[in-house]
Amino acid sequence: MAITKDAVEDKLKEVMYPGFTKSIVDFQFVKDIDITDENVYVEIDISSSAPEVEQQLRDDITRKLQLLGATKIDVVITKPKMPKQSSSQGKNIAPQVKNFVMVSSGKGGVGKSTTTVNLAIALAMQGKKVGLLDADIYGPNIPRMMGVEGQQPQIVGNKVKPILSHGVEVMSMGSLMEEGQSLIWRGAMIMKAIQQLLQDILWSELDVLVIDMPPGTGDAQLTLAQSVPVTAGICVTTPQKVALDDTTRSLDMFEKLHIPIAGIVENMSGFICPDSGTEYDIFGKGTTAPLAEQFKTQVLSEVPIEPAVREGGDTGKPVVFHQPDTETAKRYQQAATKLWQEIEKINEEGGVDNEAIQPTTPPGVSACSTGGAPSNSDDNHQGGGCGCN
Ligand SMILES: Nc1ncnc2c1ncn2[C@@H]1O[C@H](COP(=O)(O)OP(=O)(O)OP(=O)(O)O)[C@@H](O)[C@H]1O
Ligand SMILES: [Mg+2]
Repeated sequence: MAITKDAVEDKLKEVMYPGFTKSIVDFQFVKDIDITDENVYVEIDISSSAPEVEQQLRDDITRKLQLLGATKIDVVITKPKMPKQSSSQGKNIAPQVKNFVMVSSGKGGVGKSTTTVNLAIALAMQGKKVGLLDADIYGPNIPRMMGVEGQQPQIVGNKVKPILSHGVEVMSMGSLMEEGQSLIWRGAMIMKAIQQLLQDILWSELDVLVIDMPPGTGDAQLTLAQSVPVTAGICVTTPQKVALDDTTRSLDMFEKLHIPIAGIVENMSGFICPDSGTEYDIFGKGTTAPLAEQFKTQVLSEVPIEPAVREGGDTGKPVVFHQPDTETAKRYQQAATKLWQEIEKINEEGGVDNEAIQPTTPPGVSACSTGGAPSNSDDNHQGGGCGCN
């Protein structure tokens, strides 16, 4: 007797989706049934990527269809790709963190910390588990901008718990030092401080740790890249031509440190007048696009000057969270979306590996300012003269 489509469907109604009391037909997972003589082809599309679910369904379907007298049974199962959130390798002193994003700028005062804060919060608002590390040990501004200035972090044993603010885990040297206190950082101390901020802080299992760097290309950047595999780098710049020269150095540093560049944030790109909403061109606009092209990357967003941004930074009420309807808030959200897409792409393509930039100096001797990586012999790190070795 010929096998009919109805008979196949009836049999498939007896195949329960593993862990549920509903069949794959009830779940509408069956996409195609094709019968030629005693050969049956079944295609199903399931919602789980677990291999054991696929195997059980394949076995169950085959067994049921054999009862109809089918001689050849083809079961094609399509399923979502295995979530691959990090595929990075090499040294990682904070392995509970899946992805690290280094936010850099060629020069100071371009809005790096402001961008880092708003990007981190935007990512958290988009459902990611986010940490924010203030690695600007010279001028830690993050506590004020996140509204946690003066807040003491909780100490657990010999580790420190990050402070929770706006859905983000935050840690800064500013939260660990007396207010107003300043330190003169020498090379070896910079390394130690950065390592401790990664290792001795009780970061949760994070999707991403966004890291605000000091301006320039020095020991802090090198140490970070050697301590954890940095998934992606972001460069913040203002649009003037003079700022772009420094930005080139910053992008060049990412390449030397083998850090994939997620993109450029063009900050202070135009001015939105709060009275009229009209946008004025102050420093120029759109000047970073050619640079992005040169480094085979993208402009993540053009963020205009908007007084709400500065106010939000000064009062610890970041604009992306407290004034989500502003144009700048939307641009930060847009940048966060693009950044995450880039992170996923980098991981799908095999992730990053910081093996090639490990220090070549013997243990106990600081690698800072020595060029560090074999591939860095012609580098232009500006952290010279720390005198730590
Ligand atoms: N798009 C913007 N609109 C208005 N004000 C802004 C914008 N971006 C940054 N600012 C303001 O500019 C000032 C400098 O920004 P920020 O501190 O983020 O720069 P930075 O690059 O981190 O500086 P530093 O190199 O000193 O760490 C801050 O007062 C900030 O509020
Ligand atoms: Mg800053």
